Amino acid sequence: MNIDEYLQKLPRNILDGEDANLSEKSYRTIFNLVNLKPSDIFYHLGSGDGLGVKIAKRDYNVKKSIGIDYNVKKINLAEKEASQENIVTEFIHQDILDADISDATVILFWFTDEQVIKKMKVKFSNLKEGTRIITIWGPLPETIPEKVDFPYIINTIPFKKANNIQEQLLSIFKVKCVDFVTAWEFAERYTKALGTPEVKNDRFLTIIQTLTIWINAKKLGVTCGEGIPESISTYIKLMKMNFDIDFEPLLND
Ligand SMILES: C[S@@+](CC[C@H](N)C(=O)[O-])C[C@H]1O[C@@H](n2cnc3c(N)ncnc32)[C@H](O)[C@@H]1O
Repeated sequence: MNIDEYLQKLPRNILDGEDANLSEKSYRTIFNLVNLKPSDIFYHLGSGDGLGVKIAKRDYNVKKSIGIDYNVKKINLAEKEASQENIVTEFIHQDILDADISDATVILFWFTDEQVIKKMKVKFSNLKEGTRIITIWGPLPETIPEKVDFPYIINTIPFKKANNIQEQLLSIFKVKCVDFVTAWEFAERYTKALGTPEVKNDRFLTIIQTLTIWINAKKLGVTCGEGIPESISTYIKLMKMNFDIDFEPLLND
């Protein structure tokens, strides 16, 4: 089976990240990185279980902590939990594309949908100077981030424009090209930051992420040297032999 077929077999909510929630540890890392302070107005776009909104208020004492999600069940549950814990938060049931976020000073935005990202980037561009926007795993398109602790990426308004993909790559991965080691290192950071405590699953995820990073880098023309490195070929073979997952079609796309 090729990688696309494999992915199609996964439950939809796993594949599209709709039910992916960050851990308390991830939120603390993010909030420390962005230097969240009591004067901040924090928005979590796609707030899911509401944990981030609660932590921002309870532990960082932000002026306002607001979660927006278009899933009414999630909003109701998050609202209920926050009020039971006496944490003053605001949960809004709305599509983020329609939301008024004009008073934001810090925004957490973990989305991979290209259309949503494109539209929200325009919206973000009109925010107050100095507003910090955190994305996870991927940068906002054509921007040079202010701060990076991969997979967490911070952009500040006004956006700094990346002149090309190499410039953006350098700002995020601190390398001029992607080889196997870079792909592995960043895949591992991502899995460690967001993965489960189940180490065996982490290794499997890291291999998938490594191959995905390297193959995407190849398509963008930013891998180091010509051809496919030995270690990448080995892992492609390993995935095929042990798990019947074929990455070759991705290489030939
Ligand atoms: C981590 S975000 C990822 C969203 C998306 N699947 C993606 O990867 O681009 C998931 C949370 O955002 C919420 N969500 C997704 N799209 C939204 C939208 N347009 N407006 C508001 N909430 C949204 C979901 O209900 C879920 O709680």
